Amino acid sequence: MSSGLTLEAARERAGALRREIEGHNHRYYVLDDPSVPDAVYDGQMRELEALEAEWEELRTPDSPTQRVGATPSSAFGSVRHAVPMLSLGNAFNREEVEAFDRRVTDTLRDAGQLGLAEAAEYFCEMKFDGLAISLRYENGVLVQAATRGDGYEGEDVTHNVRTIRAIPLRLQASGRAVPEVLEVRGEVLMFREDFERLNLAQQARNEKVFVNPRNAAAGSLRQLDSTITAKRNLRFYAYGWGEYRAGQDGVAPAGGSGDLFAAASAEAAAQDAALPARTHSGMLAWLAELGLPVNSKYNRVARGVDGLMAFYNEVGATRAGLKYDIDGVVYKVDSLRSQQTLGFVARAPRFALAHKFPAEEAQTRLLDIEVQVGRTGAITPVARLAPVFVGGVTVTNATLHNEDEIRRKDVMIGDTVIVRRAGDVIPEVVRPLPELRPADARAFVMPTHCPICGSAIERPEDETIARCSGGLFCAAQRKQSLWHAASRKALDIGGLGEKLIEQLVDDGRVHSLADLFDLRAELLASYDRMGAKSAANLVAAIEAARRPTLGRLIYALGIRHVGETTARDLARHFGSMEALADADLEALQRAPDVGPVVAASVRRFFDEPHNREVLEALKRHGVEPQPEVAPASTGLTGKTFVLTGTFPRWTREEASQRIIAAGGKVSGSVSRKTSFVVAGVEAGSKLTKARELGVTVLDEDELRAMLGEP
Ligand code: IVH
Repeated sequence: MSSGLTLEAARERAGALRREIEGHNHRYYVLDDPSVPDAVYDGQMRELEALEAEWEELRTPDSPTQRVGATPSSAFGSVRHAVPMLSLGNAFNREEVEAFDRRVTDTLRDAGQLGLAEAAEYFCEMKFDGLAISLRYENGVLVQAATRGDGYEGEDVTHNVRTIRAIPLRLQASGRAVPEVLEVRGEVLMFREDFERLNLAQQARNEKVFVNPRNAAAGSLRQLDSTITAKRNLRFYAYGWGEYRAGQDGVAPAGGSGDLFAAASAEAAAQDAALPARTHSGMLAWLAELGLPVNSKYNRVARGVDGLMAFYNEVGATRAGLKYDIDGVVYKVDSLRSQQTLGFVARAPRFALAHKFPAEEAQTRLLDIEVQVGRTGAITPVARLAPVFVGGVTVTNATLHNEDEIRRKDVMIGDTVIVRRAGDVIPEVVRPLPELRPADARAFVMPTHCPICGSAIERPEDETIARCSGGLFCAAQRKQSLWHAASRKALDIGGLGEKLIEQLVDDGRVHSLADLFDLRAELLASYDRMGAKSAANLVAAIEAARRPTLGRLIYALGIRHVGETTARDLARHFGSMEALADADLEALQRAPDVGPVVAASVRRFFDEPHNREVLEALKRHGVEPQPEVAPASTGLTGKTFVLTGTFPRWTREEASQRIIAAGGKVSGSVSRKTSFVVAGVEAGSKLTKARELGVTVLDEDELRAMLGEP
């Protein structure tokens, strides 16, 4: 279709569209701050494509429409790096970081570049777990991209790298002139959420799933067909440079920080003077000005070993919440002159160090699979492993979740497996290494009977979880349910720990929740690690637990699907345990937020004679629930709130707690019954729905005012 424009007008329009589109890419991928909805972006792309179709001469190689092109014959050919891509020395603990800092400090002091009392200044970065890439820009245009390969020679992946929208096809002219040659070094990676999405799609198409985001990123760059790479949403962060030639002003021989070691010192000094900055941090700031993505959110300058360790610990603490995988942090002497002084050993710089996190994955042998029984009878297969050091601790057990997972992962007893322990998450078996499978490997068979109480194990057709049908007859379930009942949000019996419960149940002292109230200090004091004092404290805690609120007592019963909030709602609605126990399905569903699943679960619980007996026994033991007091403030009673977006001061959780404490209710979805929608930044479809339904919308300040909070 013709645009109706003259060639000149079309050229101008195409230029404007290109700037717009690259601007959106920059906002989205580099600044992490999207500027327009996808539909607007797509619309602009379509308009530009139409103009370029109408006038062939408008189709320039750096146009965003040209990110995906035909696979050139040079694809995967080899590329010799003008400046080698080196690796980094590693450290795994403070001592090794101290040794590195000492070498740096001594050398720089000897060279007169650091005062005697001064600590060396380092630039601290993330160590991205992706793959290293070198981007070559000539006169500001991306002309080649290559993998690291062996450091001297890599593969030509230009056709695929061009599809990465985080990578500018043309550098932005920042105040200074665009260099004649600039090689940008950095890491290509895939965000975790994109990785999860990719694997789900791969699975649905019955195609190979990737082991981790790094492999997915590597696989995506090795595609012959760049339309596939384009769909993978790869990212890029720059952390260095290779060859640099300033051009224009006629300065600078070839060579970046990478090959300074090879340069004679006079040449090196010339190079140093020619670079646009005198520090590594300055260079990265300049790369950012050119439109390249630099991870400036976490990067920072630090001094001395304490500064480095503080960075390491901080990043370690945020690691699990990051959008991408990192395997450590990198410290680089910030002054480029000092970098030159320090030079290189073998294939790594003396001025930089990778401080690695303990590996989150390790390989070990799966010796056996046993099953564990949970509070609700859920049977979890657990792998017994040959001890292995992973995630900073020695692991001997790892969860296999459920039977279907074992089949899906194709794990067999006797396999060599990859075990993962990330942060404080329970260790899990990720996958087996089938190449190492011994001939006598055995498949796991779900036992038909509970290993603890011998009751039948049942697995309803439509559920993934098998359960022991023994209920509270099963000692394993009893232990877990007692532990739940004693927990802070239930009866809050401090001092009644897992070990003690285990012993009390095994000794036949405690059969049900009610028996806890029979426990005497003399008996308790006879248990391991229980002095007279702690026994007395425990008895006092048990005494205090005789007067729980009704909500806490309902929660303490451990009814399936009845969490803390539902328990409180039920308590307020029914007013007494008797009324709740007698309510039929219909009556139950009249309680707020109670649907058929919760109602059926409550009914099932009270229909079980054992459970009724426990309630009777509790009464006999003088356990008397206190009415759930309706909150003092009345303004919010009966009002339902829906929270959406991010609030400037409160977290959503804090805001919910305040609303509930004031007698209001918080729901997850907007309907005609919603009284107020509280919208923060980036509120999405819930806000739209509220507007459609005419529900009053508040911001955080208005909510605070309503709650009488400053
Ligand atoms: S600098 C001369 N900085 O780690 C120094 N590397 O072990 C060259 N990596 O091949 C590398 N994050 O793939 C540097 N912030 C970072 C990095 C980083 C990840 C990777 C890179 C390199 C490997 C070296």
